[in-house]
This record gives sequence, C-alpha cells and structure tokens, in this order.
Amino acid sequence: MKIAFLGTGLMGRPMASRLLQAGYEVVAYNRTKVKAFPLESIGAKLVDQPEEAIELASVIILMLADFSAIQAVLFPTINQIKWEAKTIIQMGTISSQQSLSLKEEIEKRDGEYLEAPVLGSIAEAEKGELVVLVGATQAQFERWLSLLRCFSPEPVYVGAVGQAATFKLALNQLIASLTASFAFSLGLIKKKGIALDLFMQVLRRSSLYAYHFDKKLDRMWEENYTNPTFPLRLLYKDVNLMIEEGREVGLEVETLSVLSHLLGKAMDQGWGERDYTALSSIILGRT
Ligand SMILES: NC(=O)c1ccc[n+]([C@@H]2O[C@H](COP(=O)([O-])OP(=O)(O)OC[C@H]3O[C@@H](n4cnc5c(N)ncnc54)[C@H](OP(=O)(O)O)[C@@H]3O)[C@@H](O)[C@H]2O)c1
Repeated sequence: MKIAFLGTGLMGRPMASRLLQAGYEVVAYNRTKVKAFPLESIGAKLVDQPEEAIELASVIILMLADFSAIQAVLFPTINQIKWEAKTIIQMGTISSQQSLSLKEEIEKRDGEYLEAPVLGSIAEAEKGELVVLVGATQAQFERWLSLLRCFSPEPVYVGAVGQAATFKLALNQLIASLTASFAFSLGLIKKKGIALDLFMQVLRRSSLYAYHFDKKLDRMWEENYTNPTFPLRLLYKDVNLMIEEGREVGLEVETLSVLSHLLGKAMDQGWGERDYTALSSIILGRT
C-alpha cells in the first residue's frame, strides 16, 4: 500500500518513519522540502507538490499545523484529483467543524475521510506509543486499525468524525490549564524563596498532583523553553479552537479566553517557536 504523507514537521517526520519501518511505501511532501530529507535517506520518495503524492497513493495522511495549512495543501488542486478509492486520514489537531467540513469536501468527490488526532509528542511518535483517537465509522476503524497501529499499540475508537477532534481538544484544554496553574504556583514559590523540593514533596502526596507537573518541572523552574516538542504557537491555535467548540455548546469560555490572551501575549513577544511551557514566562511577568 502506498501512503502519501503530507506534513513532515516535528510529529510528521517520526510518524512517517514508523510507516517506513513497518514496510509501507511512503511518498512524502513537506512545504519546506529540506525537513523531509531525513525520510528520503530511510526510503521515502519525496515530491515537490502535494498533488504528486496524492496521485501516487491510495491513503493520504495529513499531519499539518492547522486547518489553513490543510486548505493550502489540499484545496488548490482538489478538483483535479480522482478521489475515488482514496482515503484521507487527518491526524493533526483541528476542530470538529473543520474536520466535518473536510469530510464533506472529500466525500462529495467520492473519496473516504476519517480523523485520527493524536495525544503524545515526538518521543511517543518515535516509539509508536501515541494515543490515536479515531473518529470514523466502526467499519472504517476496523479497516484502518492495522495501519494506525504503526503509531499506537491500541488506537481508541471514539465515535463518528468530529467526536475524536473534540476529544483531542478536551485533552489539550488540560495541557493549557494545568500548565498555567502550575506556572502560577511555581511563580509564588520562586518569588517568595520557598523550598521547591518541599513544595513538590507535599504536592506529590496530595490529590492536587498531576504527572504533567513533574514532566514539565525542570523546564518551568529553570525557565528553559528551548528545543520545543510542542511549540507554543500550536497550543495557542488549540486554545482558540477550544473556545470555538465550547461556545458552540454553550459553555462559559472565560477562563480559556484569558489563556488565549496570555498565549497571544507570548506570541507577540516572538515566543511562538518556544516550548509551550513558555506560557509561564508571561505568568512570571518576564515581558
Ligand atoms: N508537536 C506535538 O507534540 C503535537 C502533539 C500532538 C498533536 N500535534 C498536532 O499535530 C499537528 C502537527 O504538529 P507538529 O508538531 O508536527 O507541527 P509542525 O512541526 O509545525 O509541522 C507542521 C507542518 O505543517 C506544515 N505547514 C504549516 N503551514 C503550512 C502551509 N500554509 N502550507 C503548507 N504546509 C504548511 C509545515 O510545513 P513547513 O515545514 O514548511 O513549515 C509542517 O509540515 C498540529 O496540528 C499539532 O497541533 C502536535
């Protein structure tokens, strides 16, 4: 089976490499071609235009930054492609509405569409240990399970297209909120000169503890936001999608609006390419 892999950024590169290791033929496209060169050295065919990859493959995996990147890659030539017998598996983080609109565009051209956004980052992508959340029909889930197992030991069936997109945003909401909460507590501890070890010992024994805190502790305490696995600009995009989704169902989105404002401030400082924990710089008042 030939797979077109569109978007070989931080996550796409290790994911495409998992497919190659599993013996799939991969045709890769990335807007900045040089970023796909490591895949060429392990057997991928690289192309200059997305439609070249799509023409050659029966399955097209999208691992692009956001919906506008998907539009830029897919839409200019969407009417020139024969979609019959082609399946798109959209794996980036987009909203349920965006995912449903893609499904409509592909299905009206007789193609197949499902969504499979992922939880986990580069390390998990390299090991095939992502959590893959599938929004599809049950029959599609079963059909594509062995392929999705390249990325995850046990892909999770969530429901119809749109449901997995929302599920993923519900999880990322926790990334944003936990990071902001922890940043504030660490800020108080730091600025008042209280012993960090003691604070962490007590936190770890309490019901307030989340594994996320220890995972991000060193970065946040040392204020080291280099070598991002998940750049701040992507969390900013996700928080804005959460606001849209929340509004649609009548949720109060004020806390997320504040997070969006803080992340927006970080973007204005030019910190979009830093690790998302750079959100704590804003909370620490490092402007
Ligand atoms: N990083 C993570 O830990 C993580 C985890 C789970 C889910 N995700 C989600 O997965 C998706 C990919 O994440 P990532 O970390 O791999 O992001 P990334 O490193 O920024 O890669 C994004 C990809 O989209 C392409 N792109 C962006 N704008 C484009 C445009 N206008 N036209 C054509 N191509 C465009 C980029 O091409 P260039 O290389 O030319 O810029 C690159 O291939 C995102 O939706 C993200 O939210 C990320």
